[in-house]
Amino acid sequence: MDAVQTKRSYLITGASRGIGRAVTQRLLAQGCQVAGIGRHFDDELCAHSGFVPVRLDLALLDELPARFKQLQRKLPPLHGIICCAGYGRFGALEQFSPTQIRALIDTNLTSQILLVREFLPAFKQRHTGQLIFIGSEAALAGGRNGTIYCASKFALRGFAQSLREECAASGIQVGLINPGMVATSFFRNLDFRPGAAADQHLTTGDVADAVWLMLNARPGAVIDEINLSPQKRVIEFGRPKKI
Ligand SMILES: NC(=O)c1ccc[n+]([C@@H]2O[C@H](COP(=O)([O-])OP(=O)(O)OC[C@H]3O[C@@H](n4cnc5c(N)ncnc54)[C@H](OP(=O)(O)O)[C@@H]3O)[C@@H](O)[C@H]2O)c1
Repeated sequence: MDAVQTKRSYLITGASRGIGRAVTQRLLAQGCQVAGIGRHFDDELCAHSGFVPVRLDLALLDELPARFKQLQRKLPPLHGIICCAGYGRFGALEQFSPTQIRALIDTNLTSQILLVREFLPAFKQRHTGQLIFIGSEAALAGGRNGTIYCASKFALRGFAQSLREECAASGIQVGLINPGMVATSFFRNLDFRPGAAADQHLTTGDVADAVWLMLNARPGAVIDEINLSPQKRVIEFGRPKKI
C-alpha cells in the first residue's frame, strides 16, 4: 500500500501546524513531495528536501485567484490537494463584526473553493486526482456559540458532497473528514479545549491516519466521509495553560 503513495505530489493547506502539519509529515515520510500553504513555517519543516513552503494568507481572498494561478504554473502535476487550513472563532452572533464574519468564512470555506477551482480542470483532464477536506463535527450539528464556524463547516461539507458527485465521472476521489476535538493550537486563543487525558481528545496522528486511509482507497472506490471523535467528550473551560 505504501508504495502507491511514493513520489506522489500533494498540495496541503494549513501545512505549518496542527492537523495539516501531521498530514504533511506523514506524506513526506512516505516519500511524497508536498507543497504546503501557510503563513508561518519553521526551519525544521522547510529543511525537508521534499517540502516546498508556500507563504500565503488565505484570508486575503481578492489576491487568491492570481496567486493560485501562479502556483498551478509552478508546481508539478499534483496527485491531490488536502485542505486543512482553518481556525475557530466562537461567540454569540452579535459579538462578531462583519469583518470577522467574512474572515472566518473566507478562510475556512471560500479560499478552499477558489483553490480547488484553479486545480480542478487539470485533474479532470488527467482523469485522476484526490481532494480531501478537513470538516469538523461542527459540520454535522449546530451548537451554541458556533453560528459562523458551523456555517463555514456545514457549507464545506455541502461543497465536498456536491464536488464528489460532479467529479465522479472524471475519476477524481473527493472525501471529507469530520474530526471531534483535536489537541492542537486551534484552541490557543479560545476559552475552551478538549480534556487532557488520552481518551478525551484526538491527536493529529488520528486525523492523519484517516487522511492516509482515504488516499489509499483503490482507484474506482471512494471513502466519501469519515467522522471520528475522542472516546470521551470532555470540554475544559478557561484559557489553556499550553497545548
Ligand atoms: N483542532 C480541532 O479540534 C479541530 C476539530 C475539527 C476540525 N478542525 C479543523 O481542522 C483544520 C486544522 O485545524 P488545526 O486543529 O490543525 O488548527 P491549528 O493547529 O491552529 O492549525 C491551523 C492551520 O491553518 C493555517 N491557517 C489558518 N489561517 C490561515 C490563513 N489565514 N492563511 C493561511 N493559513 C492559515 C495555519 O497556518 P499559519 O498559522 O502558518 O498561517 C495552520 O497551519 C481547521 O480547518 C479546523 O477547523 C480542527
